[in-house]
Amino acid sequence: MCGIVGYVGSQSALEVVLAGLRRLEYRGYDSAGVAVLADGGIAAAKKSGKLVNLEKALVDRPLPAGATGIGHTRWATHGGPTDANAHPHLDNAGRVAVVHNGIIENFAELRAELAARGHALTSETDTEVVAHLLAEEFSGRADLAAAMRLVCRRLKGAFTLVAVHADAPDVVVGARRNSPLVVGVGEGEAFLASDVAAFIAHTRSAVELGQDQVVEVRRDGAAGGVGVAVTDFDGRPADVRHFRVDWDAAAAEKGGHASFMHKEIAEQPRAVADTLLGRIGADGELILDELRIPAAELREVDKVVVVACGTAFHAGLIAKYAIEHWTRIPCEVELASEFRYRDPILDARSLVVAVSQSGETMDTLMALRHAREQGSRVLAICNTNGSTIPRESDAVLYTHAGPEVAVASTKAFLTQLVACYLVALYLGQARGTKWGDEVLGVVRDLADIAGAVERVLADMEPVRALARSLAGAGTVLFLGRHVGYPVALEGALKLKELAYMHAEGFAAGELKHGPIALVEEGLPVVVVVPSPRGRSVLHDKIVSNIQEIRARGARTIVIAEEGDEAVVPCADHVVWVPVTPTLLQPLVTTVPLQVFACELAVARGNEVDQPRNLAKSVTVE
Ligand code: F6R
Repeated sequence: MCGIVGYVGSQSALEVVLAGLRRLEYRGYDSAGVAVLADGGIAAAKKSGKLVNLEKALVDRPLPAGATGIGHTRWATHGGPTDANAHPHLDNAGRVAVVHNGIIENFAELRAELAARGHALTSETDTEVVAHLLAEEFSGRADLAAAMRLVCRRLKGAFTLVAVHADAPDVVVGARRNSPLVVGVGEGEAFLASDVAAFIAHTRSAVELGQDQVVEVRRDGAAGGVGVAVTDFDGRPADVRHFRVDWDAAAAEKGGHASFMHKEIAEQPRAVADTLLGRIGADGELILDELRIPAAELREVDKVVVVACGTAFHAGLIAKYAIEHWTRIPCEVELASEFRYRDPILDARSLVVAVSQSGETMDTLMALRHAREQGSRVLAICNTNGSTIPRESDAVLYTHAGPEVAVASTKAFLTQLVACYLVALYLGQARGTKWGDEVLGVVRDLADIAGAVERVLADMEPVRALARSLAGAGTVLFLGRHVGYPVALEGALKLKELAYMHAEGFAAGELKHGPIALVEEGLPVVVVVPSPRGRSVLHDKIVSNIQEIRARGARTIVIAEEGDEAVVPCADHVVWVPVTPTLLQPLVTTVPLQVFACELAVARGNEVDQPRNLAKSVTVE
């Protein structure tokens, strides 16, 4: 997830673009860059780190003035957060500049093709190929929108692209597939941006771009206006939908959501889909982002140990079920803060999987270092490209959740789960415990999950109403079995950290061994019910558990699969989730618990983005 701005008009493009990037910096802050059309050429500047670094560089070396420009603030995916990988990317002649948000899945083959034609590519990004392809398609055609259409037809994956060409000084073009792009239309000026926050200070009149469309915004010198033309990738004119933005600037940054957490919960379908992008190679094999472990060593792994903290630890607990089921390798899951102090048994045949959104959590980093000292290999699952944990690991799988601004983890958790499933499949593939078609079957099931999460999110008003009705409750318990048990732990953690309420998660089977003593009249108990298909024994047992607590006065809130009528008689409230394969069920059952905790926190007057006493990245042990 990156932030993109394009501008054509009569103001200083540099100032408009920089102001837009400031409003989009929440989308990524690994690097920033700008390109302005001036003096018949392109003047560009880019810098790793936050936008302020670029602004300082521009004070030292100002760009010439121009009224057409583009800019980018990056959340690194392909290639670390360096100056060279920062956008915009230019072709070898420096005549075209492009910025990109998303992942171009077939970039490796396009890169090889360009190299064979004599292009010199200088970054590690997937984006750079687009600059070179655009330059080729523009030459002899002199129509940037047409060139963009031709290039887009060759790209696989998800992308928003915005580009300028030195020989088309009054034009900015953009394109989108599965990634956001909106057009702002002002008096004699137009804007392209990842979201309206970038241009709301200039205009509230906007145009929504559809899927697989290319837009050209052109300054019309004679009439003093701007033209906006939208087509599909084949050049057929598209209907455009105009709308008026009535958010204020702060709401616009959160996409109109009440908080970053609301926004991040809503972004989960996209985050899940993005994390799956580009994982299947040309021969149908799974691909990690960085792999420095020889295949022979992976085949020899005899133990997997997942280390993580908090929410990431809960993702690890779920990973255990998939890893053991799909690979038949024993898997331990350990709190990173406890790991090295108990002198764990590790050797060269142990694979340690470190899960971390930030990539900077000190407990997880120390566990990783300890594992490497013992000769074990470490595979990182991380959301932050270039952070310490992936840098110090032997293999990395990046989640593509985009920046998570709210302190409580939501979309990072779902993408960590997707990544854990992919690692389990990868190990299964490497060791031959999973056939290629079985791997692809699970990947297809995972691809359906984004739609399932979207359906869950579309029907959350009853959950919110229920949460508001419980604002005065003192304690909420969460129960689950099998993969639903870590979901119960995660539901309780979300409620503690956001609503500051006493909440506990239990394995439902443990209830009778003690915790059932907590149950009293009116106590809200959330129960995550396994599918009645597949694990019917567990399902029947948990239905009995619900009856036991209900008989003791609990108010039962049941998360169950659509069509599971057996839960209805013992539930005070049922939250239905779509049918999913048993192991993947946490991807849908966690979502109502996030919404529940968030709404309860709001109802109690709490600040959901920055809960008290917490920090987003815990860099002390
Ligand atoms: C809870 C939460 C924390 C983090 C934990 C690990 O909502 O966000 O429990 O999951 O601090 O952080 P990372 O994943 O950055 O290592």
